[in-house]
Amino acid sequence: MKGVIFNLFEGFVSEGWGEEAYEALLDACPLHTQEPFVGPGTYPDADMIALVTKACERFEVTAPDALRAFGTYCFPQLASKFPKFVQGYDHPKAFLMSVHDIIHVEVRKLFKDAVTPSFVYQDPAPDRLVIEYRSERKLCYLMEGLLDGVSDHFSVAIDRVQTQCVHEGADTCVFELRFAE
Ligand code: HEM
Repeated sequence: MKGVIFNLFEGFVSEGWGEEAYEALLDACPLHTQEPFVGPGTYPDADMIALVTKACERFEVTAPDALRAFGTYCFPQLASKFPKFVQGYDHPKAFLMSVHDIIHVEVRKLFKDAVTPSFVYQDPAPDRLVIEYRSERKLCYLMEGLLDGVSDHFSVAIDRVQTQCVHEGADTCVFELRFAE
């Protein structure tokens, strides 16, 4: 996973629980990485899993709740780091439909070794969008938080229902979204 995501995780923990809490978390985790995480670097997913698992233990939150909260924290940060990806969109539906074919394609050009998830869209009605999320990392809880962050960013309520989940034995995760007027 890219360093930029590890750096966001540091910000998430430091802003929520203090910088010392993040340092203590690093000390308590047997990480593969000894050097500081830098944005363009690529680090083992296992290190992120170790950090999230330890954070959940220390701050007494479940992994799904922690990943949702982290996703909601991440979106405005990504949007301000990469403004060109959000400019030009005034509705979350068109924006979300650009993530697979535009944003994550550009992300893979910008960041060597980035591995982004795969999205397949269905567009059943003007106020609806179905996103099928597929990733070896199975981060659908992060995806939920990111969707909430997108809703906040565009000030459009998004009602989201996850109709299937890999954590419950399905092949992929499916999100059915309905946008408020
Ligand atoms: C400005 C917009 C965005 C940028 C710059 C961006 C960038 C990135 C980057 C750098 C990664 C890490 C890849 C890696 O570490 O190998 C990532 C992963 C991911 N992105 Fe995006 N992203 C954006 C928007 C979104 C949105 C709106 C969603 C979903 C609604 C999304 C869903 C995900 C998920 C779920 C992952 C985790 C990796 C996985 O599931 O395999 N991203 N993105």
